[in-house]
Amino acid sequence: MASRSVLTGVGSYLPKRVLSNAELSRRVDTSDEWIVERTGIRERRIAADGEKTSDLACAASVKALEAAGRDAKDIDLVIVATTTPDLTFPATAARVQAELGVSHGAAFDIQAVCSGFIFALATADNFLARGQAKAALVIGAETFSRIMDWEDRGTCVLFGDGAGAVVLEAREDAADRGVISTFLRTDGRMHDLLYVDGGPSETQTVGKVRMVGNAVFRHAVEHISGAMLEACARAGVSLDDVDWFVPHQANQRILDGVARKLGIDVDKVVSTVALHGNTSAASVPLALDVAVRDGRIKSGDLVLMEALGGGLTWGAALIRV
Ligand code: UT7
Repeated sequence: MASRSVLTGVGSYLPKRVLSNAELSRRVDTSDEWIVERTGIRERRIAADGEKTSDLACAASVKALEAAGRDAKDIDLVIVATTTPDLTFPATAARVQAELGVSHGAAFDIQAVCSGFIFALATADNFLARGQAKAALVIGAETFSRIMDWEDRGTCVLFGDGAGAVVLEAREDAADRGVISTFLRTDGRMHDLLYVDGGPSETQTVGKVRMVGNAVFRHAVEHISGAMLEACARAGVSLDDVDWFVPHQANQRILDGVARKLGIDVDKVVSTVALHGNTSAASVPLALDVAVRDGRIKSGDLVLMEALGGGLTWGAALIRV
């Protein structure tokens, strides 16, 4: 029997500091009404001074390990999806591995911006399926507040900090549980729609987020819908078979637009964007954790996750939890 990558635990972490729409509207020319109507976001979290992406990643991982009933010594693969690494190198995953006490196997970062968690999950699934690892920690962690232009109202109201993590284990006896299909896509021709205007090689600076919001919005609805249909087609299931949709939490209007386009019941769509804004690679596992812990997503449910981000990158993953 073929091995399946089974999700055995999920956890998340949000920094304590809350930045409300009201507070933001005192800093830039915006309002709570505009932000809520155009995005659904009510507040976002900001990492404390000195609180790093690896700290957020570790806090989420500890909870995921606990939920899985696993110890760091059981893990032999750590993948961190992040666009806001602690340092240019080494990988944030190397720090996370050491902090958690994972003492064997590989650890590396994945850079696919807001799609990072989907890319990391697909990567881990391939490692497990090939027998190259037995138990993986797959993490999405970001301190996007560090790369915001706090004077650009078109972006600074959208993003926040946070982390989410899952434990994926290779199981021969998984029956129909585990990752069933994944779909990943990048189109680098759309690089300029969403990028950071700095980096070690080009500018020797960290840079700030730049986005053509309305163009990204249109691509998001189209490509996310396509990715969801493709992940289902690869698994031979229909959207009606899916119990829960766990989308990238970028904008409530994107969630609603995709649901409308595909005829999905909005009650099946997990939305947490109001509470933390767009946390990039962290948003899918953050939303997944909320819906698992509040009892909506139960063992045996078919869950479809999706995301789109800078690159552009996009993708979807279908998993029976
Ligand atoms: O996770 C990665 C993927 N990223 C996304 O998915 C984000 C995708 N984009 C979006 O979510 C939306 O495009 C935004 C929320 C960024 C913007 O919403 P929009 O409905 O597309 O607005 P817009 O960019 O077309 O701008 C409409 C107006 C403009 O004013 P004028 O030119 O019509 O006078 C903007 O200057 O809204 C203005 N505006 C704001 N007004 C108040 C832009 N940002 C703000 C703001 N407060 N924060």
